[in-house]
Amino acid sequence: MAHCAWRFGLIRLLALLGLALGAAACQPQTAPAPTTAVTEIPPAPGVTLAAPAGAAGLGDPLYPALGNGGYDVQHYTIDLTVDVARNMLDGVTTITAHAMQPLSAFNLDFSGLTITRVTVNGQSADYRRQGSETTITPLQPLAAGARLTVTVAYRGEPQPIRDPGVPFVPLGWQRFEQGIAVVSEPSGAMNWFPSNNHPADKATFTFRVQVPKPYQVAANGVLADTQDAGSSTTFVWQMTDPMATYLATVHIGRYEVVTATGPGGVTLRHYFPLGTPDTVEARFARIPQMMQFMTERFGPYPFDAYGVALLPVSTGWALETQTLSTYGADGADEAEVFHELMHEWFGNSVSPATWQDVWLNEGFATYFQWLWQEETEGRPAFDATVQQAYAGLVSRRVGPVLPQQPAGMFTAATYQRGACTLHALRLTVGDAVFFQILRTYYERFAGGVASTADFSATAVEVSGQPGVEALLHAWLTSPTLPLLVHIGQQQVYR
Ligand code: ARG
Ligand code: ZN
Repeated sequence: MAHCAWRFGLIRLLALLGLALGAAACQPQTAPAPTTAVTEIPPAPGVTLAAPAGAAGLGDPLYPALGNGGYDVQHYTIDLTVDVARNMLDGVTTITAHAMQPLSAFNLDFSGLTITRVTVNGQSADYRRQGSETTITPLQPLAAGARLTVTVAYRGEPQPIRDPGVPFVPLGWQRFEQGIAVVSEPSGAMNWFPSNNHPADKATFTFRVQVPKPYQVAANGVLADTQDAGSSTTFVWQMTDPMATYLATVHIGRYEVVTATGPGGVTLRHYFPLGTPDTVEARFARIPQMMQFMTERFGPYPFDAYGVALLPVSTGWALETQTLSTYGADGADEAEVFHELMHEWFGNSVSPATWQDVWLNEGFATYFQWLWQEETEGRPAFDATVQQAYAGLVSRRVGPVLPQQPAGMFTAATYQRGACTLHALRLTVGDAVFFQILRTYYERFAGGVASTADFSATAVEVSGQPGVEALLHAWLTSPTLPLLVHIGQQQVYR
C-alpha cells in the first residue's frame, strides 16, 4: 500500500542499496580509473529494451532478501482449507498490486509448500523457486503503474521458519498439540502465504479459512462471515487497515469467545482456549483502561477491533499480531498486556521502515509500560523502574540500540536502552514537548511506516532543538552508554 512515509522509506532503502552496490563495485585497481563521463548509447531504431526484473529483496540492513522490489501490494486474499489433524493446507492466495516500474518478472517470498499453479492477470505464468524466493514471469511484461492480480495455488504442511532474529522460537504457521497458530515476527509469514514479506509494504487482508467442525478460527480484524458447509465451517476475517505481513495471524482451536466494548465503542473479542482458568482471563481485565490511557495521549485506537488469542501452550513471549495479540496459555502480567496493546499504535499502525528500526516498536513499548506504571503506581515507582533498567544497561554494558545483525533485534539494546533513549529525550526537552513529539510522530506516520531518521527529524522539528539529533544519535549508535542526565548536566541517576 502506498504511503508518503512508505515511499520515503523505500527511497532511503534504495539509496542505501545504491551506496552499498557502489561501494562493492569500487574495488581497488592497479591504476586510478579515468574520470570520463559515461556516454549513453541509444537503442537501435526498432529495438525495444527488455523490461527489467523486480529486485529479489528490498535491501533491509538486517534482512536484505526479505521483501521484493518493483511492485506495491494493495490486498491479500488468503483462502485456505485446513486439515487440522494433519496440519495440511490447500490454499490460494490472491494478491492485488501495482507495478512501480516496468517488470519482465517479479519475486514473491514463499517457503516450503508446493505450488500447483500461478496466474498473473488471469493467465498462467511461469515461476521458478530458489529457497524462499519465487520468481514469477508473466506472459507479457508489465508496464509501470499496471494493476496486477497474482494468484498462487499451493498445498502441503507448512515448515517452521528458523530465523536468527528469534532463535528461541520457530516462526510462521505451526501446529501445537491442540490447535494451530501463526507467529511470524520477523520473517515467518512466508511459510503459509506468498507475499512481499517486509513491513515496508503494508496491505489490507481477507482471510477465508475452512476448518472441520468443531474448530473455530480467529484472525486479524473483524469476523465478517461464517459459512456452514455441513462437516466444516468457513470463517471469513477482514483486516481493512494496512498491515505488515509479520502481523498477520490465524488461530485455529476451540475457544470461549469473550466480547466487550472498549473506549469509543471499539469491539473487544478475546479468544480463550476452552478450559482457560478465570484467573488467566482476569489478567486481561484492564485492557479498556489501558486503551483509554493510550487514546487520551495519542488518539483513538487505530483499528476496528481488539482482543487477545491464547496459544494452547505456555510461552515466554507474546506477540502484537494486529488487532489480536497472541499470548501463551498463561497470559502475561499487566506490564506485558499493556506492552502488546500499545504496539497497536506504535509498531502496527506506525510500522518500522526496516528491521534495524525495530526499537521504534520495542523501545517505545517498553517505555510505555513504564508510563503505565507511572499512571497506576505514581512517579516514584516509575523512577525506580527507570533507574533499575539503566543500572542493568550499565552493568551488562549493553551496546547500541540499532542492531547490526538479526540477533540484536529483540534484546536489552532495543527494549531497555531504546526505552532509556526516550527517557533521555524526555529529560532533555521536558514533558510537554516530549509528548508533543510523540503525538506528532504518531499522527504523521499512522497507517504507514517510519524510520529512525523520521523520528529524529520529528523530534528536532517539534522541539526546535537541533541538539536533539546528536542526543538520539549517541543513544542509538554509540558503543558506550550515554549518561542519563538533564540537559543542564545535572545527573539524575547515579
Ligand atoms: N514483538 C514481541 C514483543 O512485543 C517480541 C517478538 C518475539 N518474536 C516472536 N516471533 N515471538 O515483545
Ligand atoms: Zn514488543
